[in-house]
Amino acid sequence: MPNNLTIIDNRTGKKYEVPIEHDTIKAMDLRQIKVKDDDFGMMTYDPAFMNTASVKSKITFIDGDKGILRYRGYPIEQLSENCTSFLEVAYLLLHGELPNRTDLDDWRQNIKLHTYVHENIKKLMEAFRYDAHPMGMFISTISALSTFYPEAKDILNPDVQRKQIFRLIGKVPTIAAFAYRHSKGMPYIYPENELTYAGNFLNMMFKIGEAKYKINPILEHALTVLFILHADHEQNCSTNTMRGIGSSHIDPYSACAGAAAALWGPLHGGANEAVLHMLDEIGSADKVPAVVKDVKEGKRKLMGFGHRVYKNYDPRAQVIKKLAYEVFEVTGKNPKLDLALELERIALEDDYFVKRKLYPNVDFYSGLIYQAMGFPMDFFPVLFAIPRTAGWLAQWQEHLSDPDQKIARPRQIFLGYGERNWVPVDKRK
Ligand code: CMC
Repeated sequence: MPNNLTIIDNRTGKKYEVPIEHDTIKAMDLRQIKVKDDDFGMMTYDPAFMNTASVKSKITFIDGDKGILRYRGYPIEQLSENCTSFLEVAYLLLHGELPNRTDLDDWRQNIKLHTYVHENIKKLMEAFRYDAHPMGMFISTISALSTFYPEAKDILNPDVQRKQIFRLIGKVPTIAAFAYRHSKGMPYIYPENELTYAGNFLNMMFKIGEAKYKINPILEHALTVLFILHADHEQNCSTNTMRGIGSSHIDPYSACAGAAAALWGPLHGGANEAVLHMLDEIGSADKVPAVVKDVKEGKRKLMGFGHRVYKNYDPRAQVIKKLAYEVFEVTGKNPKLDLALELERIALEDDYFVKRKLYPNVDFYSGLIYQAMGFPMDFFPVLFAIPRTAGWLAQWQEHLSDPDQKIARPRQIFLGYGERNWVPVDKRK
């Protein structure tokens, strides 16, 4: 079978053969298609990258039709079931293989050496208003780290890259917890490095007066699973931002801050907060049919439903739904759960959702767990950004080592005015 595509340009009758690799053609191979020799050449128009691969990656695989998600080949269900530590999965994403015992110990040790932040970072965070949004604080503080580690600019040096990876993965829980404590007017709790990644984070969040804060093992496990589920998701909006900013060869702190900003939007990592607001607003199961009617009439969206890639049940949502019951055993059931289940039931039976293949995504149930665990709603995107930092860094590292990559710079179809002459201000209409 020939592995190429024949294109006939009906404007000119000319025929072109374009090679196919991995079921894909190179957009640059279309540039030769011209009507006149001095034409720019054919481009593709693909707002929102609906059908454009911008990278070749070996990190995360999604089959949206089958509801499959794998990190480096390992199904998400297996990783979330068996990995006892988030750092094991972070290692897998960044190194391509699961660590053996020695590698895992070294990796943990290296991350632990970098969990503390410079005292000036603490002061910087103290300067935010008492009601500053924790995600705004998180983004700004990550960005500020670049001023503390100016050597991070040497991004192509593997040792420098590695050091910033340790620092970022080590410090994001600390910065996140400080942002929370600031919003509560509570003293910051420093990292305790003998705890697990999730356990240390819970300790920095919730420890109050006690000498030793008792971490509930079920909640610690639940947070580990949630971190694993959120660690990477191939070329999503924030990862694309990380790669895009990183493609200019800026330091990883600045790129991560940009990625975190992208994550904050309600169509991305802000969706779980939007789900809870929506459930609050709906209030009771008898209102669900009216809400579904509004959705079908295009008056509103069902938050936590739909996905650009998944046209099946999001496998992360399956794991989270199960996890929710374990968490609720400890925390008591989130009263919104029944409403969420009823909304899901009605939506999944409805032709509108069936036809469009709209299923619950990761955000539909995660907010219910986070809320039951005592995290405030505005903190949800921060909880997403902590583990996703490992994914962003894995993708950033892959990007920098990919000889196909250059500075990200899309083309445009210019539809504005042609040249026209400047008019003095008094003569303008
Ligand atoms: N509720 C109602 N209708 C929807 C929804 C929804 N949540 N999502 C998509 N649709 C409809 C949409 O109106 C369109 O209908 P039509 O063909 O009649 O115009 C059709 O389904 C296809 O949707 P789309 O907007 O072309 O899909 P997209 O790939 O551009 O958008 C999405 C994906 C996730 C932004 C969108 O589904 C959405 O806004 N969902 C709600 C927000 C949400 O839950 N986001 C979290 C995503 S998962 C975690 C993450 O990425 O961080």
